[in-house]
Amino acid sequence: MKIPQIPESDVTDEAVFLNRRSLLRLGATAAIGASLAGCPAANEADAASKEAAGASDRRRLPNVAPAPPEFRVDEKPTRERDATRYNNFYEFGTDKKDPARHAGRLRTEPWSVVVDGEVAKPGRVPLETILTPSRLEERIYRFRCVETWSMVVPWIGLPLGDVLARFEPTSKARFVSFETLFDPEQMPGQRRRVIDWPYREGLRMDEAMHPLSIFAVGMYGRVLPNQNGAPLRLIVPWKYGFKSIKSIVRIHFSEKRPHTSWNDLAPDEYGFYANVNPEVAHPRWSQARERRLGEFRKRPTLPFNGYADQVASLYADMDLRRNF
Ligand code: MTE
Repeated sequence: MKIPQIPESDVTDEAVFLNRRSLLRLGATAAIGASLAGCPAANEADAASKEAAGASDRRRLPNVAPAPPEFRVDEKPTRERDATRYNNFYEFGTDKKDPARHAGRLRTEPWSVVVDGEVAKPGRVPLETILTPSRLEERIYRFRCVETWSMVVPWIGLPLGDVLARFEPTSKARFVSFETLFDPEQMPGQRRRVIDWPYREGLRMDEAMHPLSIFAVGMYGRVLPNQNGAPLRLIVPWKYGFKSIKSIVRIHFSEKRPHTSWNDLAPDEYGFYANVNPEVAHPRWSQARERRLGEFRKRPTLPFNGYADQVASLYADMDLRRNF
């Protein structure tokens, strides 16, 4: 990732806005929530008046279980506007404003995910099937990008482990990896090979099964905006944000450690584990401090992004300077 420090003007710049067309397309994204919930789709006049009022027209997700205390940080959530206008999603361009500008063209319905590798129940699974047996839950998590910006986001999703278990991974499955859609027609950033597309990420099975790891389908009470990874993304809150892969179309179980995009691109800079660690500097900048989107002063970064009590034991026998 190319930007170690974020000028505050970028974070608070509100000149980025979605034009009416892309708002309407975001409305189409929301249809996933609508089909799950049986809600009617937003109409155009509705979207236009909401746009005028500056409100989101994304579909509200009903019947979401509130986050239990262990899954809710007691810190002020980042403004929705900042979390949805300042993004990393290189499939739509490398500028922080590109995803909000261009992701409206992504068609998120219908959506399905290919499940394969070391698993008893492989196949192509419609998103609705992935979501239906479980009740959606809110999780209020810290999120720390390797570039040193951070946020607190009320995500909506379901435990990753619950979903993965349904496919019945075999005893050989030691890792699980994920791929983002590859479609340069819809994702103009993929016309340039800044990454060896598709974007790939992976976890060790015990990390994936940890109760903090989720598949997110929404944020701030509504379906995910496309720029934040609709319709299905990973959230692993104790790891740097690049592990939280967006717009997932494949889940692969393997015995061997998978190739992952940033680790392949620059192994000295981006480790496979990528656990948030203020003591291990990136070769080009310190990881000791971070700046919350919308705030001016930096604050100290916490080991495992503040989740050490819950996850440090996963790495008890590892040298975290070597396995960064
Ligand atoms: N997933 C895909 N497919 N492509 C990306 O470029 N960027 C990652 C991660 N997931 C990325 C991705 C990085 S570097 C970060 S910090 C987070 O998404 C940013 O998530 P946000 O835009 O929702 O804040």
